[in-house]
Amino acid sequence: MCGIIGYLGNRDAYPIIINGLKKLEYRGYDSSGVSIFHKDGYNLYKTKGRVYELEKKINRSNIQLKGTTGIGHTRWATHGVADDINAHPHISNSNNLVMIHNGIVDNYNSIKIILLNNGFTLRSNTDTEVLVNLVEYIKNENKFSLEEAIRCSLTEVVGAYSIAIVDRDDPDSMIIAKLGSPIAIGIGDGEFFVASDPISFIQYTKNVIYLEDGEMAILNKYKDLDLRKIINNYKLNPVINKLKIDLKEIEKGKYKYFMLKEIYEQPQTILNTLRGRLLVSSKVIYIDGIESNKEKFINTKCITIVACGTSWHASLIGEYLLEKLARIPVEVEYASEFRYRDPIINKNNIIIVISQSGETADTISALKLAKSKGAFVFGICNVVGSTISRSVDAGVYTHAGPEIGVASTKAFTAQITMLILLALKIGKYKSIINDNIYNKLCEELGSIPEKISTALKVHDSIKKISKIFHSMNNFLYLGRGINFPVALEGALKLKEISYIHAEGFPAAEMKHGPIALIDQKIVVVVIAPLNESYPKIVGNIQEIKARNGKIIAIINENDVEVNMLADHVIKVPNISEELSPLVTVIPLQLLAYQMAYIRGENIDKPRNLAKSVTVE
Ligand code: G6P
Repeated sequence: MCGIIGYLGNRDAYPIIINGLKKLEYRGYDSSGVSIFHKDGYNLYKTKGRVYELEKKINRSNIQLKGTTGIGHTRWATHGVADDINAHPHISNSNNLVMIHNGIVDNYNSIKIILLNNGFTLRSNTDTEVLVNLVEYIKNENKFSLEEAIRCSLTEVVGAYSIAIVDRDDPDSMIIAKLGSPIAIGIGDGEFFVASDPISFIQYTKNVIYLEDGEMAILNKYKDLDLRKIINNYKLNPVINKLKIDLKEIEKGKYKYFMLKEIYEQPQTILNTLRGRLLVSSKVIYIDGIESNKEKFINTKCITIVACGTSWHASLIGEYLLEKLARIPVEVEYASEFRYRDPIINKNNIIIVISQSGETADTISALKLAKSKGAFVFGICNVVGSTISRSVDAGVYTHAGPEIGVASTKAFTAQITMLILLALKIGKYKSIINDNIYNKLCEELGSIPEKISTALKVHDSIKKISKIFHSMNNFLYLGRGINFPVALEGALKLKEISYIHAEGFPAAEMKHGPIALIDQKIVVVVIAPLNESYPKIVGNIQEIKARNGKIIAIINENDVEVNMLADHVIKVPNISEELSPLVTVIPLQLLAYQMAYIRGENIDKPRNLAKSVTVE
């Protein structure tokens, strides 16, 4: 994780760096640092804590950070605790080279031993300080230029990195390189911006080059960008992409937290996912990445979906949909496990990777493994231009817009919407799906934004319920069928931002263990829409009541039975079972938000988490 940013041009670098860091904080926020270069050297400040604390420290110092070259870093600790010393930037022993790094140097220990044996001293516990000193060591030993020394050092590195290095003797230049972790270059007029995520510089330029693995770029204020392959110094032609993000999309607007803004955006984001793909009047679904690979989807014997976190929960919903509507056997895998258990993959397999950020290291590794075995890899990503979206054989964007709150909300419903479209489309291709069902689901899908708007109206009752339960320490979330993954997602949201222990279970599984936990100190959230399994879930609710558990039930508007049984009910609009997760998850997102709000937590920046997990 970690966010890195750099600037090289004619403007004052400091405001660009510090404001950019604030936009990158979603990637990590346990410590931060900045270094601004000028003709007499550089100023470097770093501190434990958030970027605003770094800003305070700099303001207190009364030193004007003047200079037109700068780098900055916001950290999510991997090697070494979060403190001032381990914060980036890191400097080499001569104090000449200054580096920021996102990623992990797996073999840092063996490099460290070489450095220590050669008289180097290390102040921090980080792999980054080892790396910047390796560059210095190789540079001095071989009388190499900085560029040559970086190239040579990086061929020694096992692990992942995106780095930016500046030499105090040449502050008009900066060298960046990438393997695994993302880095993009913004091209301005006589200036370069560098960042883990271009949203940190889009107010200055929308022209972006994404570095690919194994590439490095030599940036100089007075020269054209020089892009090279690390391994053989081969010169490459940069491809400039035009970003389409609007500045408003990355601002909180009237909302106190991004998470709340993003929850409320869902009627619109789902419209964006559906736009151009579903024609409700003629019941036509058009998905570009599928049309061109129609035969593969028709003929495949199975699909494996690989993802992490919330995207993994969406994948479980995808399993239900693809099996039911397209009759294709589906397996869902945690990306981190998939890679390490020698999965059986062959040329005829379809692997779907789902990722909001498109940068999750585990998912990228799984994707690479699948491709190396010849599988056809299809991506469902939110972030345009992300590593996953650039690496798959075909894919689709969910178009939910930038998601900044660490707890994923709108990306989840956009992924589910995409999976519904996919399942309907393949079911139709295979002539497996009944026309009436297909038409009804298309019709209902068109009405989803309106139904979500209605579901959002439960916010006031959720505020009341949260006041009652905010000091409880244990929650169980229960659902059945397609709403079981929704239970998992509801529990994940609660633990991520409120730090309350919460677990999700298939409702019927409760009697095989979790029921032992039930007493008056546990809150059980039951997702109980009116569908085939409704009578069974009524039975499960009776079992909880008999053991004095407190019940909050998510029910449909015309529900009678659970309405009477539960301690508290939250009503959401009726909809077909296949689409129900899109509405049942809304109150669970609001419940998690409201509980964290009452408990005074920092909702957009929960402890220990990061939005984009770029380490394995
Ligand atoms: C992190 C985030 C989660 C997210 C998961 C997968 O753990 O905190 O919110 O669901 O990564 O991320 P992806 O971007 O691949 O969907």
